Amino acid sequence: MKRVAILISGGGSNMIALARSMQGDHPARPVLVLSNDPSAKGLERAAAMGIPVAAVDHRPFKGDRAAFEAALVQQLDAAVPDVICLAGFMRILTAGFTGRYARRMLNIHPSLLPKYPGLHTHQRALDAGDAEAGCTVHEVTSVLDDGPILGQARVPVLPGDDADSLAARVLVQEHALYPAVLRRYVSGDRTPVLL
Ligand code: GAR
Repeated sequence: MKRVAILISGGGSNMIALARSMQGDHPARPVLVLSNDPSAKGLERAAAMGIPVAAVDHRPFKGDRAAFEAALVQQLDAAVPDVICLAGFMRILTAGFTGRYARRMLNIHPSLLPKYPGLHTHQRALDAGDAEAGCTVHEVTSVLDDGPILGQARVPVLPGDDADSLAARVLVQEHALYPAVLRRYVSGDRTPVLL
């Protein structure tokens, strides 16, 4: 069985989709849900599913990313994960951290990368007049929202969309895409999933 740790910052709907998928004949199991925000709703939801949870509050580190990440590493390595899934984890990671987990850390991003790395992806797609939007799962490298693409899902942009309505449509696809990619990835297959 592969061991999967999931990093979150908020509600954790992608974490839940991943955790629910890891059952039965799935070759992986969730072993830790870790947040930089001790009040993240996703922590309660993970605990209710019986998954070990932990938090490393980034605020006391006052911008000392290396020290914050050292505390994250301590929690993560104690769980001995084979794969780490960033799922709405909203802290920038240093090259030291991404390098430590190279080729075993995944991220989901709410745009069709390489378009719109960073924040406000849905508004940027609307402002550009894009006919479609979507989400991407990729391997994490030292470059923000970059790295080999492991899957993408597309949705139409509809007349009257605002950032919230578009985000909601994309999120439905995130919940399908991330589990599909993870299953393939833990089986040793990096062929992109296209939904
Ligand atoms: C998701 O839409 C995810 O793609 C996005 O945050 C949301 C988290 O929702 N991630 C990023 O923007 C990463 N830069 P969730 O907590 O319900 O999974």
